[in-house]
Amino acid sequence: MSRSLLTVILAAGKGTRMRSDLPKVLHRIAGRSMLGHVLALAQAVGGDKLAVVVGPGMDSVRKEALAGARDASVYVQENQLGTADAVLAARDAIAGHDGDLLVLYADTPLLRAETIRMLIGELDRGAQLAVLGFEARDPGSYGRLVTATDGTLTAIREAKDATAAELAIRLCNSGVMAFRLQNPLEVLGKIGNANAKGEFYLTDAVEIVRAGGGRAAVVVCDEDEVLGVNARRELAAAEAIWQGRARERVMAEGATLIAPETVWLAFDTVLGRDVVIEPNVFFGPGVTVEDGAEIKANSHLEGARVGAGARVGPFARLRPGAVLGRDVHVGNFVEVKNAALGDGAKANHLSYLGDGSVGAKANIGAGTIFCNYDGFLKHKTEVGEGAFVGSNTALVAPVKVGAGAYIGSGSVITKDVAPGALALERSVQEERPGWAEKFRTLMARRKAAANK
Ligand code: UD1
Ligand code: CA
Repeated sequence: MSRSLLTVILAAGKGTRMRSDLPKVLHRIAGRSMLGHVLALAQAVGGDKLAVVVGPGMDSVRKEALAGARDASVYVQENQLGTADAVLAARDAIAGHDGDLLVLYADTPLLRAETIRMLIGELDRGAQLAVLGFEARDPGSYGRLVTATDGTLTAIREAKDATAAELAIRLCNSGVMAFRLQNPLEVLGKIGNANAKGEFYLTDAVEIVRAGGGRAAVVVCDEDEVLGVNARRELAAAEAIWQGRARERVMAEGATLIAPETVWLAFDTVLGRDVVIEPNVFFGPGVTVEDGAEIKANSHLEGARVGAGARVGPFARLRPGAVLGRDVHVGNFVEVKNAALGDGAKANHLSYLGDGSVGAKANIGAGTIFCNYDGFLKHKTEVGEGAFVGSNTALVAPVKVGAGAYIGSGSVITKDVAPGALALERSVQEERPGWAEKFRTLMARRKAAANK
């Protein structure tokens, strides 16, 4: 099956029912656009050539297509005249391609690579056309798959054009199709629009292929897999299905999720072996958690790397560029952004560590703030290995604290601190012996006088 594969992804739908300024296929599931998911699927099944069909003026969709697959070609379908017309928008890609043709939909983000491989497997077994079908809980307006007694596909009938007997069929068309044809453009070119909707139906290809002596096959998948997103409630349903699968996957790979249904993973989350994730943890894109690390409840991570054996949270926030070494501790109400913490460093309570670095084994006291922003520019804070930063310290960047140095609590550090030094920035503590008793006596007398 070393045939070259051209995948045409239909992404022209505006998605009016989303009630959104964003084109439908740019809405996200697990932190990646639906189009991004479908592009990744096409690449996973070895789609070496990709064509994306967008609607007029959809520059943002074009950009997303090229971001997901740099060598994709993007075509515009000027008028939405039907699914066959949409595929034909990519006519130039099809004409220049010698191999299989796969049609996917950018608003159907849950398809699995195995399923597409099964579809292409039907082509390997001699079918010229393979259609992905599913048993619909509610067949409604789906196209019905009409099959012969030997299981081959004889026609796809759109609901509006179907007879009562055809409407009773529960095996429905997902829309996804694969072709192995000498000349796909010839078949597509024969499709007319003499039907109830007056559209050029891609589904008519079945009867055209059969009339030419070819065989059409059906592969059946689970209905969840071909869930199409048209409105926000379906977007949420797709997210839920995607999350369910991802949780299963990370657990199968050796992570413990104490309450899996409360953990939100991103499309690219990587969890190592024996990682433990407590309840209510959210992963944005770009997070890797290495073996044996623990993410405690109610933490939010995005664009971060957590080293082996590290402990994060509860209530921690790791923002893009947070890189924690081995056995680092980041505790409650600590925010880390664009900062690296060396092996064994600790910031256990109430801190903001933004734009800088903390050396191995350094200790960051409660309430320490990296003052990284002066209202115009961001600056760096560097804390050396083994340094001890006392509680409630403000490190005004750019500033460096040398290895092994101590900073007294409550200091506002604006100048570099030498390695091994103690830096203190606060007024000297005064003490007046017996002052409290004298004060109380004086005030009690005043109050008595005022109340007379
Ligand atoms: C289509 C199928 C139907 C199937 C159903 C599954 C046809 C004729 N019918 O019906 O058998 O059960 O999908 O959801 O193919 N699109 C374009 N340009 C167009 C028309 C459609 O890009 O001119 C895209 C849409 O954005 C959408 C997809 O193709 O993503 C399906 O089109 P839609 O009009 O929704 O087809 P259905 O009537 O749902
Ligand atoms: Ca002070």
